Amino acid sequence: MGRLICLSNRIPTGANPSGGLVVALGDVLEETGGLWIGTSGETTDLPDATLREIEGGPFKRLCFDLTEEEQENYYAGYSNSVLWPLFHGRTDLMEIHQEYLNTYKRVNRRLAKMLAPIIQPDDRIWVHDFHFLPLAYELRVLGVQSPIGFFLHTPFPGPISMQALPNGREICQWLSNFDLIGLQAERDVRACLASMVEIGGGSDLGGNFMHLSPRQCRIEAFPISIDAGEFKELAERQIEELPDGIVKPNRSLMIGVDRLDYSKGVPQRFRAFGEFLARHEDWHRHVSLIQISPPTREGVQAYDDIREETEYLSGQINGTFADIQWAPIRFINRSVPREVLAGLYRASQVALVTPLMDGMNLVAKEYIAAQNPDDPGVLILSQFAGAAEQMGQALIVNPHDTEQMATTMLTALLMSRQERRERYHALMDGLTTQDVHWWSKSFLAMLG
Ligand code: UDP
Ligand code: G6P
Repeated sequence: MGRLICLSNRIPTGANPSGGLVVALGDVLEETGGLWIGTSGETTDLPDATLREIEGGPFKRLCFDLTEEEQENYYAGYSNSVLWPLFHGRTDLMEIHQEYLNTYKRVNRRLAKMLAPIIQPDDRIWVHDFHFLPLAYELRVLGVQSPIGFFLHTPFPGPISMQALPNGREICQWLSNFDLIGLQAERDVRACLASMVEIGGGSDLGGNFMHLSPRQCRIEAFPISIDAGEFKELAERQIEELPDGIVKPNRSLMIGVDRLDYSKGVPQRFRAFGEFLARHEDWHRHVSLIQISPPTREGVQAYDDIREETEYLSGQINGTFADIQWAPIRFINRSVPREVLAGLYRASQVALVTPLMDGMNLVAKEYIAAQNPDDPGVLILSQFAGAAEQMGQALIVNPHDTEQMATTMLTALLMSRQERRERYHALMDGLTTQDVHWWSKSFLAMLG
């Protein structure tokens, strides 16, 4: 069996990872070895023509720099101002410019040219996420015959959303050059099959096979996960390391952890918490929300806007309810190491994972894995997170419904230990059976 070559725009380059893709693939490559290729995180004047190795680490990494123009048009532009909003149900935030698309194609073509010479016949190639949709097409043009799989870490848009993209048909054509397309959830498989037919002009062959001339591909759901056993042990160790003052007697803790992205529903969550506090004066001083939101994709307008909105809302809620002994929301705008998060999850009675749209959401899975089995906390989970398909024993909410979310917060805080345990055990069983190793093994087994 040849090497596993993984490609993703972001690869771990030393700084603390704060995205689901890097966390999950890191676990896989540590186990299987292989090669991980992506951008360096640095910019250069002249485009690189070859990949260079990053020293150290538990697996081999190769990277390339982007030019300033590529960073602007390929990363901030087509990837994060066109595809990301489209794939998260926010066509209203798309910024369509021909230059974004031109550069996006050019970066993918350049990567294919750097990659093709190092591919050996028995290697398997696994491309990740929306930054590299055309990569299989570009590799096929260069004569690469190897199996190429694709995994999309975000939701997949249905035909109505796809119509908003001028080159929707081209995207379907690109995708058909992968042998296997892995998606997070069954809802995404349905949306992808429908878009490939209605937008791409493909033929649904049944059994999740799609023919889009001249190629045939397979589309399946592989819900991504974490190493639940390892994370449980991490949380058991880290709870002992929590700084003083986080846990207070007679005070419950709610936690939210999300990159500061408009898809994560943080303003809606803050409003629901404000509604809860307005309804339940008896809970004042007895509950606090820690919201950890590292900034992400700064400079893209929609991200600057969400930062302003969340800062305003947290300030407003604290201004309305805080007193000299208590501030209801602690809003932390920086990245927190994952091991520290593990301890915080275990110390929190409730987790709020309430995205408006999310591929999977690993925080939901980490929170459950981190709990004390004897006295576990409660997960409040949005119906729009891919995780909701597997984690039905969480308290499932509609993040647009402020009143329902406020009511659910009270239900979570008052839930009996017996019910918390039952829900936890059911959720943890699912996480242990379908963990990150199951995810990668089942994808790669199907890729062949
Ligand atoms: N994360 C982290 N530090 C932070 C915030 C997040 O290490 O300050 C990690 C978190 O533990 C999780 C990942 O980043 O493993 C986020 O993945 P998720 O699927 O929830 O969301 P994404 O960022 O991929 O949209
Ligand atoms: C999501 C995407 C990843 C991305 C991560 C962090 O998880 O699916 O592809 O790496 O967010 O975003 P960034 O733009 O900082 O890489």
